[in-house]
Amino acid sequence: MMTRRGFLGFAGAVIATALGMACTQEEKPITTPTPEVKEKVVVKEVLKPLPMPPWPYKKIDPDYAAELGYQGYMGKTFDGEKLPGKACCFGAFYAIVKPLAEEVGSPYTEFLPVASIATVGEGGLVGWASLCGALNGAAWAIWLVAPEEEAKKVIDELYAWYMYEELPKYTPPKAMKAELSPFPTSVSNSVLCHASVTNWCEVSGYKAFSKERSERCGRLTADVAKKAVELLNAVHEGTFVPAYPLDDKTKSCKSCHTKGSALENTRGKMACWSCHTEEGAMRVEQVKGHPEI
Ligand code: HEC
Ligand code: HEC
Repeated sequence: MMTRRGFLGFAGAVIATALGMACTQEEKPITTPTPEVKEKVVVKEVLKPLPMPPWPYKKIDPDYAAELGYQGYMGKTFDGEKLPGKACCFGAFYAIVKPLAEEVGSPYTEFLPVASIATVGEGGLVGWASLCGALNGAAWAIWLVAPEEEAKKVIDELYAWYMYEELPKYTPPKAMKAELSPFPTSVSNSVLCHASVTNWCEVSGYKAFSKERSERCGRLTADVAKKAVELLNAVHEGTFVPAYPLDDKTKSCKSCHTKGSALENTRGKMACWSCHTEEGAMRVEQVKGHPEI
């Protein structure tokens, strides 16, 4: 396990590196060196620890966040300039942290280069198609800027919105992977990359590894970043009202299966019926004409 001291040291070192002043070397003493004894090099580290989150928030323009989310997904700006990361998770994270680096400055400015680590969330985390990377990256950014209780409310709302909404909605000024008009939309019924992508493939007829699907996820990242910022702005101004409660069916499942209920054998807020009922995930045994497995 990393000790707290170890972590702060690491964070400080990261900042120091980011600022290009990782270490300074003392000048060589002007003495005749004894051949057997090696010269001692003193290394001084300049450490500036990051403050504990939440960090200060300033209202972000949701349309700007959408554009940054899309470009972040593509790993480059509309002008072709390379960004420090790429893909869905980085795109959503970057879309929130970058405007704050511009408007608030420190500590976001020093932190921005580290945002590249969010690339790990690509495709539901290095392609596992678990949690949608855009939702993942947005949640980290929300946690960075909002106190815990507010962050949880915003994330709940963002995730529920994502499950029930027709997406993508965003149209870039210039499509970077594929131009389709009208752009096909779908409802994921899930926060999972797998369900989200595959439902879209089903509706649109495009393949999961096609450039059209990639374009779709870029636009979706823009949508998630925009929605996250709208919610953060609302919390910031004290006008936040949740509009996406859990659906009734999921509530009913939870009445017997979750904390404090008779069975208490599940956790979670995902729509149970997206997997467990007839309208939910398909069982391969029920697929007509499916090859023997
Ligand atoms: C009135 C209470 C109640 C409600 C509401 C309810 N369940 Fe259950 N569920 C049960 C009980 C009781 C069992 C059996 C538990 C056992 O035998 O271990 C069960 C078992 C299950 C199982 C396991 C089946 C198996 O093979 O062991 C699944 C999956 C399940 N429920 C999903 C759901 C879903 C999804 C919903 C909502 C659409 C739901 N349940 C709503 C009471 C409920
Ligand atoms: C993303 C798909 C998914 C969602 C959403 C989901 N489940 Fe499950 N659930 C599973 C899988 C996969 C298993 C494990 C099945 C197995 O290994 O037999 C499981 C297992 C269960 C079991 C135990 C089944 C058994 O064999 O005894 C219960 C009960 C259950 N889920 C209830 C729920 C409830 C209630 C919800 C909503 C709060 C829910 N699940 C949401 C996929 C899902």
